[in-house]
Amino acid sequence: MRNVIIDCDPGIDDSLAIMLALKSPELNILGITVVSGNVSVNEGVENAKKILDFMGRLDVPVFRGEAVPLKRDYVSAAETHGTDGLGETFFPSINGYEQKISAQDFIIQKLNEQKLSIIALAPMTNLARAIQKDDKAFENLEEIVTMGGNFKSFGNCSPVAEYNYWCDPDAAAFVYDFFYRKKKILNMVGLDVTRKIVLTPTLADFIYRINNRVGDFVKKITAFYMDFHWEYEKIIGCVINDPLAVAWFLDRSLCDGIMAFTQVETSGLAIGQTIVDANNFLRKYPNSYVLTSVDSEKFMKTFIGRITDDRNETEKNWSALKGVF
Ligand code: RIB
Ligand code: CA
Repeated sequence: MRNVIIDCDPGIDDSLAIMLALKSPELNILGITVVSGNVSVNEGVENAKKILDFMGRLDVPVFRGEAVPLKRDYVSAAETHGTDGLGETFFPSINGYEQKISAQDFIIQKLNEQKLSIIALAPMTNLARAIQKDDKAFENLEEIVTMGGNFKSFGNCSPVAEYNYWCDPDAAAFVYDFFYRKKKILNMVGLDVTRKIVLTPTLADFIYRINNRVGDFVKKITAFYMDFHWEYEKIIGCVINDPLAVAWFLDRSLCDGIMAFTQVETSGLAIGQTIVDANNFLRKYPNSYVLTSVDSEKFMKTFIGRITDDRNETEKNWSALKGVF
C-alpha cells in the first residue's frame, strides 16, 4: 500500500482518475485536495464528493484549497468541463462531509506525520502554498507525479502551454524550482503522452457492456467533453489526461521518459510553457522525469478493468476492440 494524496480540480478527467485510484488496492488514499482549475474550488469540492458518493467512498476526506492562482487572474476551463465541472450533468449535491482544515494544511499535516506521495492533477497552487508554509515537511514526500506540461507536444490552451501550468504558471514555476533546489525529481505526465489516451464512444460503450452502472456514469460525464473535443480538435472521443498519471504511478512500464532540467515560463506569449532542456544546453542537473511515450492499449485495459471492477470480463472480451488501438 502506498500513501497518496490526490490534488485535483474535478473536472471530468480528474473524476475518472479518482475512480481509477479508488479501484486500485495498492493505494491508501489519505485524502483528496481540491483547487480552482477546471472549475472553481467550491464546485470542485462538490464534484469530488459526488464521485466519492457514486463510488461508495465518502470515507475519503475532501479538503478545500486555493480559490485563485498565486498571481494570475483565475481562468476556468468551464467551456471544456461544463459549468458544473461534470459535463453539465448537474448531479444532486452531497451535503456535509466538510473538513475544518484547508488543503495546504492537510498536505503539511500528513507530510509531518508520514511518508507519502502526491498525485497532482491540477494547477499547482495548493502545492506551492504548502511549500511556502512548511517546506521542511516535504522531506517526507516520497514521489510526486504531476499531470501537466508538454515537451514536444503543442499546447491545449495556448500554442505552447498546457492548462494546469498555464492556469497558475507561478505555482508551477515555484514547485519546479523548489525541486531543482532540493535536487529532487518531479514526474511529469504531460500532453506528449496524455494526448494518446483517447476515450472513444466505442471504448465508453465497452465499459458499459462490462458494467452497466459504471458505463452509464462514464457516458454521462464525458458526453459534453466529447462534444468539446469534436468542436475544437475534430477528435471523436475525449482525451482523458489525469487517469494516466494515476495509472503510471501504479505501473511504470506504461511509459518511457527522459530525465531533464525543466523550467516553467511565467510571463509573455509563452506563459505556462514547460521548457524541457532535453539536451542539457543550460548545464543544469535534472529536476524532472518527462514521459515521452505510452502504451495506450495497456493503459486502457488497466483503466477499464479496474473501474468496471471486472478485469476478467474486460480481458475476456478485449478482442471486441480489435482495430481500436
Ligand atoms: O491540460 C489538462 C489538464 O488540465 C487536466 O488535468 C485537466 O483536468 C485540467 O486540469
Ligand atoms: Ca485536472
